[in-house]
Amino acid sequence: MNVPRETNKRRACIIGHPVSHSRSPMVHCYWLKAYGLSGEYVRKDVAPEDMPAFMDDLRSGAAGFIGGNVTMPNKAAAFELADRPDELAKALGAANTLWVEDGLIYASNTDGIGFTGNLDASHPGWDKVEKAVVLGAGGGARSIVLALKNRGIAEICILNRTIGKAEELASWFGEGVSAHKMDGLAGGLEGAGLFVNTTSLGMKGSPVPEFDFSAMKTGSLVADIVYVPLETSILKQAKEQGFKTAEGLGMLLHQAVPGFEKWFGKKPVVDDALRAEIIADLEANG
Ligand code: ATR
Repeated sequence: MNVPRETNKRRACIIGHPVSHSRSPMVHCYWLKAYGLSGEYVRKDVAPEDMPAFMDDLRSGAAGFIGGNVTMPNKAAAFELADRPDELAKALGAANTLWVEDGLIYASNTDGIGFTGNLDASHPGWDKVEKAVVLGAGGGARSIVLALKNRGIAEICILNRTIGKAEELASWFGEGVSAHKMDGLAGGLEGAGLFVNTTSLGMKGSPVPEFDFSAMKTGSLVADIVYVPLETSILKQAKEQGFKTAEGLGMLLHQAVPGFEKWFGKKPVVDDALRAEIIADLEANG
């Protein structure tokens, strides 16, 4: 990796536009401190039109980073401009984790790993379900459906407001993945053991329709990738109806693990103190 000789300090960044809201620096700086590592992780605002030049500087070392995470709206450009995208990044057409080796930019997508890593930690055995329902058909849904398929879940129903997008996604995945309208929720949920919201429904308290999860199997799990607020309306409704829940913050924390390990050489642990620090910040700043 390109470690700057002058300081010998490994520096990574979060590349987005805007990027001021990103909690990634808090997460990585928490781990750097916890493990006594001398590194740095900063925000890097890069407008979409500046991505080609930024990626050139990253590759050559001129940017001074050994890699970084990528967030909205630069994930597709990061994938396209990287030299060595891995299979996950290729499948998703988007990269959220970059690292430089021997003058080449390697790229991966850890969103799915973040999702499954969170459920592995919070609800071990969660993947022993035959059927899952995914609400939404955007980039978040694509990474989660892929992760669920990779974990061997046989039947996945994608529900979306715009049925055409759900159909497109389902046909891209092929066997075992079907598309349904959002108003077909009750039918879709029949016999399911997992429900995942990947839409922005409920974000920052935005209005959410009533969800009736009663067609799901007893003891099923309802997960949300929205993490502001921590307990979304969908999770609150699921809890009130007696279902287990998994909040979106866990995915955010777990998707950061592979990048930290690549850049700083230590596999970090998502612990309660890290969670508490991020929750305190979300509560203070939204
Ligand atoms: P991302 O890449 O973050 O997943 P996206 O590609 O913009 O974001 O996808 C957002 C998803 O949230 C879509 O499935 C979208 O539904 P449409 O395809 O019908 O647009 C869904 N979504 C956003 N707002 C919604 C709302 N108010 N009700 C239902 N679905 C909504």
